[in-house]
Amino acid sequence: MPNIRIALAIIAATSFAGTGLAYAANHNEPIQPIKAFKAKNPALVELGKKLYFDPRLSKSGFISCNSCHNLSMGGTDNIKTSIGHNWHQGPINAPTVLNSSMNVAQFWDGRAADLQAQAGGPIDNPGEMGFTHELAVSVLQSIPEYVAEFKSNFGSDKVTIDEVTKAIAAFEETLVTPNSRFDKWLMGDNNALTKNEIAGYKLFKDSGCVACHNGPAVGGNSYQKMGVVEPYKTDNPAEGRSAVTGNDADRFNFKVPTLRNVQLTYPYFHDGGAATLKDAVNTMARVQLGKKFTDDENAQIVAFLKTLTGDQPSFKLPILPPSTDSTPRPQPFN
Ligand code: HEC
Ligand code: HEC
Repeated sequence: MPNIRIALAIIAATSFAGTGLAYAANHNEPIQPIKAFKAKNPALVELGKKLYFDPRLSKSGFISCNSCHNLSMGGTDNIKTSIGHNWHQGPINAPTVLNSSMNVAQFWDGRAADLQAQAGGPIDNPGEMGFTHELAVSVLQSIPEYVAEFKSNFGSDKVTIDEVTKAIAAFEETLVTPNSRFDKWLMGDNNALTKNEIAGYKLFKDSGCVACHNGPAVGGNSYQKMGVVEPYKTDNPAEGRSAVTGNDADRFNFKVPTLRNVQLTYPYFHDGGAATLKDAVNTMARVQLGKKFTDDENAQIVAFLKTLTGDQPSFKLPILPPSTDSTPRPQPFN
């Protein structure tokens, strides 16, 4: 709480220096442009991409990473809480995988340190892909094209779960979204945004949203309480960061979500409780800052948020090597 107050004061003091000339040089902003990513190891990325799209890493043979983090839909499933194995409704909203390499840690409560640590989780989560690491590996091991591709990347005939998660993480690192209109504006293209969108950005800064949503990902870099000024009402049982630290002071602290591509990643909040950006912005203003925006102000902030949509991942759809006679069969219904 006190550090938020201080941050707000610093922002209030600094953000308007030089506003008169309408951000001629758009430097020293609390948000920085996203840099394009150049993969050091394209072969590993290709393997990771196949695994990301391969539903045979699930018990049902039907659910892939892309089922819940659909790269055609902003890296999310656009439903309140995800549907997993056996039509199990999950407990929490699926965050986007776009720009997730910039997160301080993975998951709403930060329980996985990085993308590789995260990637093993869904495969053997009974409510997600419902499989075991051993069976997932035995599926891959039964497919000669996969064995060859693992061998050329890792030098061994024996596929391991560690290699699987390394490859998936290498692919995920490529899922950055540069070149949003907002980034073009940050880099000096003053025509990239409309007056209305710039007004929305000013409101976003002045109101204090940037105390928590800042940096290149406009979030993702800290844990903050949901409900600083007023408690957030939800029937979702998630406790947030305290589930990891065991510290009661961390109760209801969540990783601040990135606002990059937020136009695509509805519904919002860990419980999927806000269906629209309008709702999400009003709730944030009320519970985090004790503010009430007029409809016009809300619309300006929403207009600004929509300028954060960047280039979506674009690649050739991976074609997966077929199963063989010895591949374990899908078990969709138990
Ligand atoms: C059944 C739906 C489902 C499937 C399948 C699934 N995920 Fe997720 N994913 C989620 C949900 C829900 C969360 C949030 C869980 C939490 O925070 O407790 C999540 C969180 C993540 C995150 C963390 C993002 C962040 O901002 O914290 C990453 C990265 C991710 N998943 C990648 C993957 C990968 C890679 C796969 C495939 C191996 C995968 N997911 C499969 C639903 C799914
Ligand atoms: C005190 C820190 C803090 C402040 C200030 C803050 N936010 Fe947030 N924001 C969060 C956290 C934490 C979440 C996730 C809460 C949850 O899901 O329970 C979040 C979630 C969001 C989301 C939903 C993103 C998603 O993918 O689910 C939007 C949109 C958003 N904030 C916009 C704003 C706007 C606009 C403002 C200013 C009016 C603002 N925030 C102020 C911390 C903050």
